[in-house]
Amino acid sequence: METKLLYQALNEVEADAVAIVLFEDGEGLPQAKTWLDEMRTSGEFTGKPGEMATLHQPQGLKAKRLIAVGGGKKDKFDAAVLRKAVGTVVRAVKQKGVKKLAWMLSGDNDTVTAEAAVEGAILGNYEPIMNKPSSDAKPLDSFALVAPAHAPELEAGLQRGVILAEAQNFARDLGNQPANLMTPTIIGQQAQQMARDFKLDIEVLDRERMKQLGMGSLLGVAQGSDEPPVMIILKYQPAGAKNDAKTSDHLALIGKGVTFDSGGISIKPAQDMEKMKYDMCGAAAVIGAMRAIAQLKPNVPVTGIVPSVENMVSGRAQRPGDIVKSLSGKTVEVLNTDAEGRLILNDAITYAKRLGCTHLVDAATLTGAIVVALGHVHTGAFTNNQEMLARLLGAAKEEGENMWPMPLDDDYRELLKSAFADLANIGPRWGGAITAAWFLREFAEDTPWVHLDIAGTGWLDEAAPNLAKGPTGVCVRTFAQLAARWA
Ligand code: BES
Ligand code: ZN
Ligand code: ZN
Repeated sequence: METKLLYQALNEVEADAVAIVLFEDGEGLPQAKTWLDEMRTSGEFTGKPGEMATLHQPQGLKAKRLIAVGGGKKDKFDAAVLRKAVGTVVRAVKQKGVKKLAWMLSGDNDTVTAEAAVEGAILGNYEPIMNKPSSDAKPLDSFALVAPAHAPELEAGLQRGVILAEAQNFARDLGNQPANLMTPTIIGQQAQQMARDFKLDIEVLDRERMKQLGMGSLLGVAQGSDEPPVMIILKYQPAGAKNDAKTSDHLALIGKGVTFDSGGISIKPAQDMEKMKYDMCGAAAVIGAMRAIAQLKPNVPVTGIVPSVENMVSGRAQRPGDIVKSLSGKTVEVLNTDAEGRLILNDAITYAKRLGCTHLVDAATLTGAIVVALGHVHTGAFTNNQEMLARLLGAAKEEGENMWPMPLDDDYRELLKSAFADLANIGPRWGGAITAAWFLREFAEDTPWVHLDIAGTGWLDEAAPNLAKGPTGVCVRTFAQLAARWA
């Protein structure tokens, strides 16, 4: 889809449809009064978020349709509401034959407005049709942001929005591929292709190399599958970093890349098991974020680390009760082979520290328990460092991604005690998202670290008004923003 910025008055806009936000408690855009006042007085349109009304062949306009979209209460209208409103309109009109959509901005726009609007459009235009030749999806050809008066800051916002949303859709593409088409090897190849396209350094560690290094915890999970594991290392280095005192910080982004989670010997029920192809959405978020970071060029080194395995059942699979030795030297008693995410992430966390990373963030579809706690609305955020968490939550807020701080006090730590190893890989039933986070914290140790449990937010079981069913690409924008605002 082409995206562009135009400076025009409403009546000059040529498009299949031009959309405009109207508020519940405001006038909306004065220019549109002539056409839309009647809709409001008739009661057909009240301005609630998500509401839409269409006027065909509006007199005096060049556009074929004028669409009013609800912006809700004016004082609650922000970039997040706008992003969603644009996505909702895009998804509604593209199925009705609209190819060229224009979005009329009010006069008081800024960079953030343009960014959010174009993100909403690119994310809303996305459909997972790569394996569906019979699909009748009809994407938009072009999306134009229209401002009534010249506002150069909109251009920067538009460019940034395109970078971020395309990176997020790239992550959604990775997540959408089923496990037979997105094995650890293929994730590695995809990351390599992306690194070539966007000029990042990359290294892909294979099983032999991981054995030499001593990543026994990751390899224990991988041993039950015929698909070999990989550990992907993507490196972004700002230009001239060596001479810049501010860049002694080094950010690591770590993503869980389980391409299919059968549960292993502690096998999952058949119901919904197909959704475990999404168990690599953390990995997709990291690879997507690195794609955006390569283009946004922040002033801090960022290393993306993706441990990727398939968690399968076989005669070689790891058993409950097995004890493995992690890269850190700590031993782990595997009481449940379905708690495999933490077993691959701990070796990635230790490796990140060995690479000299000073700040760690991980994203993982780690526990069903976080879905019980927060539903599908918020990502759960855990930390050993409140300052680091504040930075992360700040970036998430700016990008309109919902994240909620979760507790991680010492009282939960003892739940992971094992009689036979340094740690057990599960605790008792209750508080499962927290014990999972504590397990990771044992490996982060004192290095500032934030863990994001995206089991509830990584994908949509059903389409939303503004987003297709499937992976959401959550964390891509937050990660890119965290890096962009670091210095
Ligand atoms: N990948 C799952 C977590 C998950 C569950 C993600 C549902 C999305 C939806 C993870 O590997 C897992 O199986 N966790 C177990 C941990 C348990 C065995 C302690 C879980 O949450 O049930
Ligand atoms: Zn599992
Ligand atoms: Zn899993």
